[in-house]
Amino acid sequence: GASRPRVTFLGTGYLGATYAICYAELGYEVLGFDVDADKIAKLNAGEVPIHEPGLDELLRRNLAAGRLRFSTNIAETAEFGDVHFICVGTPQRADGMGADLSYVEASVTGLAQHLTRKALIVGKSTVPVGTAEWVEQLVGKHTPADLGVEVAWSPEFLQEGFAVDDVLRPNRIVVGVKSEWANGMLYAAHKGVFDLAATEDREVPLVVTDFATAELVKVAANAFLATKISFINAMAEVCEASGGDVTQLAKAIGYDPRIGNRFLQAGLGFGGACLPKDIRAFQARAQELGAGEALRFLHEVDLINLRRRTRVLQLAADLLGRRSGPAGPDLSGTRIAVLGATFKPNTDDVRDAPALAVAALLHKAGANVHVYDPQGMENARRAVPELTYEPDMAEAVTGADLVCVLTEWADFRNADPSHLGDLVAGRRIVDARNCLDPALWTQAGWEYRGMGRP
Ligand code: UDX
Repeated sequence: GASRPRVTFLGTGYLGATYAICYAELGYEVLGFDVDADKIAKLNAGEVPIHEPGLDELLRRNLAAGRLRFSTNIAETAEFGDVHFICVGTPQRADGMGADLSYVEASVTGLAQHLTRKALIVGKSTVPVGTAEWVEQLVGKHTPADLGVEVAWSPEFLQEGFAVDDVLRPNRIVVGVKSEWANGMLYAAHKGVFDLAATEDREVPLVVTDFATAELVKVAANAFLATKISFINAMAEVCEASGGDVTQLAKAIGYDPRIGNRFLQAGLGFGGACLPKDIRAFQARAQELGAGEALRFLHEVDLINLRRRTRVLQLAADLLGRRSGPAGPDLSGTRIAVLGATFKPNTDDVRDAPALAVAALLHKAGANVHVYDPQGMENARRAVPELTYEPDMAEAVTGADLVCVLTEWADFRNADPSHLGDLVAGRRIVDARNCLDPALWTQAGWEYRGMGRP
């Protein structure tokens, strides 16, 4: 019934696994579905396939409580749920711009074909605007009309490293619905979140809207965040040309509450599974809709972001006294320590990681690149096997002519400049995330270069 609907999550990747586990924690009876038998077996055995703080414990607790199960059986999934959340991936298409919706299509079709009673199918995956309408048609095609199966859309806003809290304590819930029944069902499916907030004396704002707006909220939020980061990186470029210091500039403008100081950290720019892909898919979709001009600035946002990578290459060449030819600098014969491979700290995720892209650029320029990352080694080695991977920071910097800090892990921020200085061949450092204290490193005899600081 609607008071305590049983919920399923289709796709147990980053999004679906986190949601399934957290909704069981909120007291719902939950079934997670995936076509990957290996993943399902692991989850049922209490093993989380991703690195996310706090998730392991919640998984084990809720498996033991009998509220949570995972299955590869779509008929069972269809039978189980009153509300089905679609959480499958929407990767970048091979053409590099639009989103690939084949997993959405496969999961919705598979589910719809097995439904035997009225249910609500809710999209959560990040999709091009218009997808919910298409899913509704797909469902109509694959379920008998008298079942009355309905569709809704409810985007998510998870940040890696904070995903558990982002699900249990979201800063808003957005639902795109077409009927009162769907609205009521989704309210019931979110009630656990509202109840938790009430016990903690918080409120979670609820935005009830149409399909298109619900779909757009997600991509608009990510486009805004990407733009904010590229804005400050553009200011870093101007600081580099004029002798200003972007870290002080960011601090000064961030005191204005209309601007705010978050997501205003200049450096190597944004990466990860969401922001880069989402701004490209958003542009592609706007183009299809005849609104391409409105999002032309996102192309600039992308370019500013990518220019940060070549800036690091340039700083490296400068510090090493290498000249740039038309094909970029020649770094052959140099040994470079790369600290950081993940797209941000406290994750093992290297998808679209600026750090790893820079490491590959340095390697391509001829440098002998030695990489260390506290959590991302396994994924990095798989993604860019041609680099040398070291077991710890000391091994990576030993004998290096230059050290590049490319992800702001606490281990690197807290590193001792004199200790590292004894290991390197030359005390030269590029701080691509502006996470070090220049005075400290300069005093220890290092030649220091940050991003957008003199
Ligand atoms: C992001 C959004 O924050 C989240 O709401 C959405 O659901 C998915 O995408 P995530 O990919 O986990 O989440 O990463 P986030 O913490 O947002 O960082 C994105 C990238 O921006 C990282 O590479 C980070 O290093 C970079 N960044 C962030 C900056 O370069 N400067 C900043 O000031 C902030």
